[in-house]
Amino acid sequence: MIQFRAVTKKYKNDNYALRNVNLDIMSGEFVFIVGASGAGKSTLMKLLYNEERPSSGTVTIGGINVANLPSDKVPNLRRCMGIVFQDYKLLQNKSVYDNVAYVIRTLGISSKEINARVSGALKIVGLFDKKNALPSELSGGEQQRVGIARAIVNGPPLLIADEPTGNLDPKNSMEIMQILDQINQRGITVIVSTHDNAMVDYFRKRVITLDKGEVVRDIQAGTYE
Ligand SMILES: Nc1ncnc2c1ncn2[C@@H]1O[C@H](COP(=O)(O)OP(=O)(O)O)[C@@H](O)[C@H]1O
Ligand SMILES: [Mg+2]
Repeated sequence: MIQFRAVTKKYKNDNYALRNVNLDIMSGEFVFIVGASGAGKSTLMKLLYNEERPSSGTVTIGGINVANLPSDKVPNLRRCMGIVFQDYKLLQNKSVYDNVAYVIRTLGISSKEINARVSGALKIVGLFDKKNALPSELSGGEQQRVGIARAIVNGPPLLIADEPTGNLDPKNSMEIMQILDQINQRGITVIVSTHDNAMVDYFRKRVITLDKGEVVRDIQAGTYE
């Protein structure tokens, strides 16, 4: 589903964020991307959702090279993936329901269909009962569950989560990872960056380790170190 071929990313200040990265991620996989702060995890994910482009090399998703995707095709690409952020990025003045419904309201589908999809996504993350709450009335773990519901509401084949538990305590982190695991079991490809070694060791998924922008380790059913 995803291929990185000789991908190098150099930012304007000559920082190499990624160096000659080669990767294949198959449809349906669950992958942890690990490594120290500054190792290139977020950059790798930004190349996937086209927030950044490689300096050289190709990034292919479902056969499409997104490294040189015309900008008018980017919204289409993003509709095929859900993105979850460390800081949730919720709209503070909108309810849980409206946060999840926000993007699909622009797709021209009926309000009945919107309601069915939003309710379904909220049930998957266990937050249907709080659909009328505002983000400020929720715990951090609950806010991240809204972030996940928003990411999956459109039924994407791919879910990308960049340090989704970075602001959470161990108990909430475990709940979030379990939800991501359940989503993967529904057949969605899940890519999670983290430096939570306890979580990585618990779940025993494929682990790709970055160090100074290079893939230094890539193992199945792995641990953090
Ligand atoms: N927009 C940017 N401009 C310049 N350098 C950047 C930018 N974003 C990230 N970097 C640098 O690229 C490297 C990798 O960063 P990043 O991908 O954010 O790593 P991680 O997510 O693993 O912490 C770091 O050295 C970082 O300082
Ligand atoms: Mg990062």
